[in-house]
Amino acid sequence: MLPSLDRRTFINSLGGVAAVAAMTHEARADAMEDALAAPMQDTAMHAEPDSMKDVAPPTVAELDAQITTRSYRRGAGGLFVATKPGAKVERLKPLPVKPTIIDFHLNRFGTSQHCLQSANKAMQSGADEEIILACFLHDTVHALVKTDHGWWGAQMYEPYVSEKVSFAIRYHQALRFYEDKEHGYEYPDLYRRMFGSDYKPEPYIEATYQMVRNHKWYLEPRMVTVNDLYAFDPKVNPTLDQFVDIIGRNFKQPKEGLGFDNSPVAHMWRSISRPDAPL
Ligand SMILES: [Fe+2]
Ligand SMILES: [Fe+2]
Repeated sequence: MLPSLDRRTFINSLGGVAAVAAMTHEARADAMEDALAAPMQDTAMHAEPDSMKDVAPPTVAELDAQITTRSYRRGAGGLFVATKPGAKVERLKPLPVKPTIIDFHLNRFGTSQHCLQSANKAMQSGADEEIILACFLHDTVHALVKTDHGWWGAQMYEPYVSEKVSFAIRYHQALRFYEDKEHGYEYPDLYRRMFGSDYKPEPYIEATYQMVRNHKWYLEPRMVTVNDLYAFDPKVNPTLDQFVDIIGRNFKQPKEGLGFDNSPVAHMWRSISRPDAPL
């Protein structure tokens, strides 16, 4: 349970109790996700804010009915839309001529802190370097696109990481919908709010899960989901420095810079680098 200060801070950050009550389920879930993925600010163990616990998760039909109430689509990349009511997109700092994964981490990925926390949790548990790297990268493609982010993310990283790392990134998305208590993974309550209380995964997600469940590398994406939590120990403040050597050993940084190496995915990196380009 969060201290009242946290709850107040969260509600105030959204414009107060009345503003929270007026928000759509979607806007609340987005705001909650942002708050939980944000850097730790105090001594509270982050869990679902109390303010959300009183609000029943929406049904699939209720979420569906919200589609035409928005000026953006939910799968749009985080860099390309401002989803909070009244918000505008920010001016972005230009990246260096030969940008590295670190430059993107620091200046483009909206999920950097969440991924840093996940990678830290993996590191603390003694995971091997490929899992730690997969955790560090797993949601970063949200900047470009959210729909099917496992597949998009794996594709974007494939030229630069091992097959195991891209496997872990690709399939963590599907495994998130399926419990594996033996390995310490439970269905996330946040998903009831994001997808609907009565949501059933699409057939291709179910088929992917069945395939991965029987794959020799099942534990690679499973470990990403185990470390993919929205609750972290606030006394632990991971820094990028912890991961620089692991990135150096496991990420093949192109000498021309990400986006300029003529790889099949270079355009994806350029799109994240320059999201204000009109074409
Ligand atoms: Fe994810
Ligand atoms: Fe995640």
